[in-house]
Amino acid sequence: MKITKICCIGAGYVGGPTMAVIAQKCPHIKVTVVDLNEQRIKDWNDPNTDNIPIYEPGLSEVVAEARGRNLFFSTDVDMAIDEAEVVFISVNTPTKTYGKGKGMAADLKYIELCARQIARVSKNNKIVVEKSTLPVRTAEAIKSILDNTGNGVQFQILSNPEFLAEGTAVTDLLSPDRILIGGDSTPGGDVAINALVDVYANWVSRDKILTTNVWSSELSKLTANAFLAQRISSINAMSEVCEKTGADVNEVARAIGMDSRIGAKFLKASVGFGGSCFQKDILNLVYIAKSYGLNEVADYWEQVIIMNDYQKRRFSNKIVQTLYNTVADKKITFLGWAFKKDTNDTRESAAIYVADDLINEQAKISVYDPKVPKNKILSDLDYLGTRNSSENIDAILTFEDPYEACSEAHAIAILTEWDEFTKYDWQRIYDSMKKPAFVFDGRNILNAKELKSIGFIYNAIGS
Ligand code: NAD
Ligand code: UDX
Repeated sequence: MKITKICCIGAGYVGGPTMAVIAQKCPHIKVTVVDLNEQRIKDWNDPNTDNIPIYEPGLSEVVAEARGRNLFFSTDVDMAIDEAEVVFISVNTPTKTYGKGKGMAADLKYIELCARQIARVSKNNKIVVEKSTLPVRTAEAIKSILDNTGNGVQFQILSNPEFLAEGTAVTDLLSPDRILIGGDSTPGGDVAINALVDVYANWVSRDKILTTNVWSSELSKLTANAFLAQRISSINAMSEVCEKTGADVNEVARAIGMDSRIGAKFLKASVGFGGSCFQKDILNLVYIAKSYGLNEVADYWEQVIIMNDYQKRRFSNKIVQTLYNTVADKKITFLGWAFKKDTNDTRESAAIYVADDLINEQAKISVYDPKVPKNKILSDLDYLGTRNSSENIDAILTFEDPYEACSEAHAIAILTEWDEFTKYDWQRIYDSMKKPAFVFDGRNILNAKELKSIGFIYNAIGS
């Protein structure tokens, strides 16, 4: 079976970049990305590709090459489903905020709506691909909806989780460590798996394309994120031990990372991990384990989240304690709001929680982030529901210029590891600040020696 038309439901951080790269690498396939969100689609179609809604290095160039040729963004979901042989589901699967499993389970309402829409619209056989991260055995539910509400056409369901990281999405998609495709081991399942393998084989070598059963594929995605997040919580746990003992967490990470069994990546101590995936997927894993009565397994993974919450709180507590136990009415400047560098995404960013703690202590927070606008920062705080919008507006100032943001500040906190922060004129910043001038480097990116010699009281994580 040869694929000529793909539809992707969901034009978000995954659907947009993933489909842009498929379209770039497969000019013979028409790729249509659809979304209910009209503004998002309008932004993807902005004539100037620098204005597309997601900031990722290299993405606007990929979109510029393929858009209008074989890459299309549309709100006409029915039409795109109808004409496609393959429909990717790439909608959001956030943590449930209501009902059974509230605060733990993945909310699958958007997935179910997609399945019902695909069933209603489809007039010929289709391959439905789970691109969203889903609880293990979700394909069973999708299949049941498709088979029971459809028009008698045949559906094959594949699981094809996405492993891209934000900020490096384009390079991750162009050179993935692996592509994972789970499907049924039936003749129909094999045809579907091979059809999708052939799409990726346009630019990924076949030995990197793994095929498994559907459940292994679904569970591998949750497992990968749990392992990655666990490494960060492990090194962050050691960062506190380092602070108490005179060890330096950067040195410890380097020493253990040279053990080829451990490996050097993902050992950067920080103010805590953020992003839309790690917490949500681990909570989902914990919920699944509990639902099977696997309480020890659930407790084991939950500890990764507990440690991460602790690390964020520990950072804000340290700021308060170091500033003589009060930050009331003090200007604390945040450099960075995004959950990591090279993205405009702020979901679950540590900055939100640290700001929330400090506002509770009546601090005045000033924020500079090269890619995050003021309305996003305010809506992130409003979403927590700790206080009302006008109180958040009173507590937060945002700046377009980092030097202005730092001027007259009592302390600077680095929340995101944007490269530009390391290149600032730190003497100029020091001269403009209240004294003593404090820096809390939540990412360990600044040159401690240089800052101390300028006169800063410099606090890193884990040393
Ligand atoms: P997102 O919120 O950025 O995008 C999802 C989009 O789906 C939204 O624009 C929303 O309007 C749209 N949508 C929802 N229901 C719809 C419907 N019925 N019809 C049409 N459009 C609909 O989410 P995301 O970050 O792209 O994540 C999508 C999935 O991919 C999640 O399951 C996530 O866990 C997974 N994932 C995310 C990342 C990441 O780095 N963000 C990486 C790997 C996997
Ligand atoms: C993650 C997974 O890496 C990716 O494979 C999956 O598809 C989606 O979830 P993402 O959340 O986009 O990707 O970024 P990632 O690079 O994993 O960073 C997540 C968070 O961990 C960030 O806040 C980052 O700053 C933090 N982090 C990462 C650390 O604190 N230390 C590290 O060593 C690595």
